[in-house]
Amino acid sequence: MAEVVIVESAEAGGEITADAVVALIAKRPDAVLGLATGTSPLSSYEAIARRSLDLSRVRGFALDEYVGLPVGHPESYRSVITRDVVEPLGMTPALVRVPGDDGGPLETAGERYEADLVAAGGVDIQLLGIGGTGHIGFNEPGSSFGSLTRIKTLTARTRADNARFFASPDEVPMHCLTQGLGTILRARHLILLAFGASKAAAIAAAIEGPLSASAPGSAVQLHPHVTVVVDEAAASGLKNADYYRYAWDNRLPWETP
Ligand code: GLP
Repeated sequence: MAEVVIVESAEAGGEITADAVVALIAKRPDAVLGLATGTSPLSSYEAIARRSLDLSRVRGFALDEYVGLPVGHPESYRSVITRDVVEPLGMTPALVRVPGDDGGPLETAGERYEADLVAAGGVDIQLLGIGGTGHIGFNEPGSSFGSLTRIKTLTARTRADNARFFASPDEVPMHCLTQGLGTILRARHLILLAFGASKAAAIAAAIEGPLSASAPGSAVQLHPHVTVVVDEAAASGLKNADYYRYAWDNRLPWETP
């Protein structure tokens, strides 16, 4: 079962992530972090930055990227990851990969990304948000649980959700490159972050709904080590919320996320 941690705020949730990253880096200064974009992981990055860790040897792999934005576009996930993660955390830019950023042909970018992930030894901690359609990464409903990094077509809902970052909805790219659900499931520890009532339905479907490609987040139920960090609003659709609180309050001393 996923460990569901219900926190007071996104800030408190960020501290849970930071604790896990501190423990990882103490063991492996050159660990591999799976980096998510979006609002949900921001409090985690801020909390990690406050710990003043030496992350200069840490390698990073982004979950996804838009296809078709010019290099250096401020809303490309390469730019977002540089701004929100690499610079504030003191990571080394050359050690951070984003799908499609190696200059090779787009058609085979997914295969090359998978090869680089394997060569790096896989992801130690993968941060995840969840979209309004229930997507993780950009794996929209219908994505195979075995899928690997590939090009996907964004749903109209996701393009509308992300239009706030662009001058007009038409500017939101139609396509993306995203790690697959199968790629995500290979990471050793998943931390799924969701805050606010708009995430309640997607979280309930992901954590307590049936395993279904129609709810891509439900793939996390197949993973042996998942920490779901939610605030009360995002947890409001969870039937077993009382049990999750009780299990967290009574965790054993060695049980850390
Ligand atoms: C985008 C990203 C996802 C992210 C989702 C939710 O679609 N590709 O990785 O989880 O947005 O974003 P937010 O956290 O801002 O709600």
